[in-house]
Amino acid sequence: MECRGLTNRSKASRVDSDHHLHPYTSIRQVENDGPLVITKGERVRIFDESGRSFIEGMSGLWCAGLGFSEKRLADAAYRQMLELPYYHSFNGRVPRIVTELVEEMMAWSPVPMERLLFANSGSESNDAAYKIVHYYNNAIGRPEKKKFIARDKGYHGTTAAASALSGIMAGKTLFDLPIGAIIRVSCPHFYQYAHPRETPQSYSDRLIDEIEQAIAREGPETIAAFIAEPVIGGGGVMIPPPDYFPRVQEILKKNDILFIADEVISGFGRLGEPFGTQVFDLKPDIITVAKMLSSAYAPISALYLNERICAGLRKGSDKVGYFGHGYTYSGHPMAAAVALETLRIYRADGIMDHVRRVGPHLQAGLRRFVSHPLVGEVRGIGLIGAIELAEDPAQRKPFPPEKGVGAFFLRRAFDRGLILRAIQGDILAFSPPLIINEEEIDEILDITAAVLDETLDWVRG
Ligand SMILES: Cc1ncc(COP(=O)(O)O)c(C=O)c1O
Repeated sequence: MECRGLTNRSKASRVDSDHHLHPYTSIRQVENDGPLVITKGERVRIFDESGRSFIEGMSGLWCAGLGFSEKRLADAAYRQMLELPYYHSFNGRVPRIVTELVEEMMAWSPVPMERLLFANSGSESNDAAYKIVHYYNNAIGRPEKKKFIARDKGYHGTTAAASALSGIMAGKTLFDLPIGAIIRVSCPHFYQYAHPRETPQSYSDRLIDEIEQAIAREGPETIAAFIAEPVIGGGGVMIPPPDYFPRVQEILKKNDILFIADEVISGFGRLGEPFGTQVFDLKPDIITVAKMLSSAYAPISALYLNERICAGLRKGSDKVGYFGHGYTYSGHPMAAAVALETLRIYRADGIMDHVRRVGPHLQAGLRRFVSHPLVGEVRGIGLIGAIELAEDPAQRKPFPPEKGVGAFFLRRAFDRGLILRAIQGDILAFSPPLIINEEEIDEILDITAAVLDETLDWVRG
């Protein structure tokens, strides 16, 4: 909540700061300053209660793909609420709208998959993946195969298991996590983590070697699954080297380790293809999706499960009597209607092609800043990108965190009407709504250019 600027606090702001516990927010900061109260949205913009408008350069939390005023989604929700506001999928029942969503989602599947399991958030989908991998191995008679390989800076959510899988400490400290047996390996990010003399090739070799050594140390018979975002999002927008996933997948195959692709951010268009699985030629056993599945207009997430996993689950179900997992709101009809309409809009409006067209405009615009004295690296793909600030770009040396350079940038960008996010302090993340056009991208880039210069003046003080 570093960017606010409210002086006269409204009633909404006062009530909220006294009684609402905000996710991923300093409690003291909201108590002192109050929240930014958002009242409406229009395309790629949101408005606060004083009427100020902001371009949402992050689509909220990497999620509002169709922006903030898509009436067709509101209509779909309303129609479904009138027809059948709630029913569940327990005990072999199903709301009809869910069957339509299943058919549509199967048509989008980037690799052959057998079934979908629904949940309500990205965290829940990864939590379910964690449970399903255990269930699967128990059901097929390999109870010792239980450990997960997960990466530093990976973000998989905040349920207990999803937090444990995540490699970001802020979500674990004081919570007594991790649970389960998690083998932590490095994230692929040459700029920050390559040693001074390493080439991209020798850096990649080291990452692969680390995974191979971890498997040899723990014993492949104890390792169940590897989980990865195709592009690490919340950990810092990290694009893997081209040979990373091919080599990782070879190792997984050799050691019979399942692959969970966390496509909660990348699923449905963010990277310029419908899925990261297509961008990086992945062969996952489980794909988790959320966010852009409904363009964030309704809470819904899902797991794509392949034939092999489903065969194991069937065995478990035969043994126990049923598949003992699910939520009251798994496949909620209103959320399903919104997701179905979202996917239909993606098709009807050619949103995937649109991202292919405008993504390069954002990427080229961001790369303009490579030579700026504050910029260490610019990276991105499709409609996701990052500018990593550095005290000494040539040496890839970051600013000391206490200097708060990223926070300063965010505040000034906010003052000029642009909302972005700073990760690990000084990685500026960009993830605008998929519907953004070139003029709106230029607005983001122009504000970024001005604020980079302003930040440079402040740093040089
Ligand atoms: C890659 C990834 N996985 C999982 C999650 C968790 O999703 P949710 O916040 O919907 O629980 C997120 C959230 O940002 C994410 O980026």
